Amino acid sequence: AKQKVVVTRKFAESAHKLLSQEPDIETIQWESDRPCDRAWLLENAKNASGIILTLSDKCDEELVSAAGPSLKVIASVSVGTDHVSRDALKKRSIRLGYTPNCLTDAVADLSIMLTLMAQRRAGEAMQAVLKGDWPNMPWTPFLMTGPQITGSTVGFLGFGRIAQATLKRFISFGIKRALYLTSTPGKPSKADYYGMVKESPIPIESAQGWEQLASESDVIIVGCNLTPDTKHLVGTEFLFKMKKTGVLVNIARGPVVDTAALVKALEEEEIFGAGLDVIENEPNIEKDHPILRQPRCVVLPHVGSATIETRVQMAEESVKNLIAGLKGDVMVNEVEL
Ligand code: GLV
Ligand code: GLV
Repeated sequence: AKQKVVVTRKFAESAHKLLSQEPDIETIQWESDRPCDRAWLLENAKNASGIILTLSDKCDEELVSAAGPSLKVIASVSVGTDHVSRDALKKRSIRLGYTPNCLTDAVADLSIMLTLMAQRRAGEAMQAVLKGDWPNMPWTPFLMTGPQITGSTVGFLGFGRIAQATLKRFISFGIKRALYLTSTPGKPSKADYYGMVKESPIPIESAQGWEQLASESDVIIVGCNLTPDTKHLVGTEFLFKMKKTGVLVNIARGPVVDTAALVKALEEEEIFGAGLDVIENEPNIEKDHPILRQPRCVVLPHVGSATIETRVQMAEESVKNLIAGLKGDVMVNEVEL
């Protein structure tokens, strides 16, 4: 009998093609690139051997139970896997594939973009022009001035692949020093993905704690996984320890930053600005949400990996992970549960 695989989105055509070439797999496809209904997923998961899903599909005890003992593999089209219950999978020896490497460059590019947008007040400046305010804003020495990246210290909360690829870019911008804090406090990151930690032209130092990271950095890049330990790690205390010229960039997961505390820090000018690709309770951010009323805060709708090339790779890699998982082979990238 064929093995049933549920696919919760329409992805790049090449990925669907890869899957359809497998003679022993029968695919149940949600026919839209919009999130699939939970009820549809629970119903169609029954007797499935594998599920390809995304970060907006919760993979919990309920889904795993709905699938039943046939379920062998979850392939997530994402680097973050906080939407997947590790316990639920581990108990039943279900394997989990993810797509870390192929999106690193795209997200690192976005980190740089958000940093510069926040420092150089791109959102605020563009809004003013669109509103027709330029005639009232002739060139003046202080018009839309902000801090410069050259010579600054950049702090990384989380120092995985994306953070290191971001640092690699920042070095070419002439930063002076990097600080990092990993999600395992006290333990410096052993991974040196780009072979640059030891041979860097600038000092790259492990921060003594979040206090040092907050107070000594001109830019903070939040790039850690979301875990119970990192939830609201950037709260009032952290933000009020930051430099008044400092900017905060979150390209990880919304709940690492306490949004209410960030609004307060921006309103009270305790920090200079922020750039967010993710936010708590996304995508349900109403037009009158206080964070959207902060002129110094750039907000993007979770588009870190959204390049045409990367999205194709993520989809194809997920299919490869799924097929390898079903065959008991080595995945391209597998989460150790
Ligand atoms: C996006 O946030 C991802 O985890 O891939
Ligand atoms: C960062 O989240 C990584 O890819 O390790």
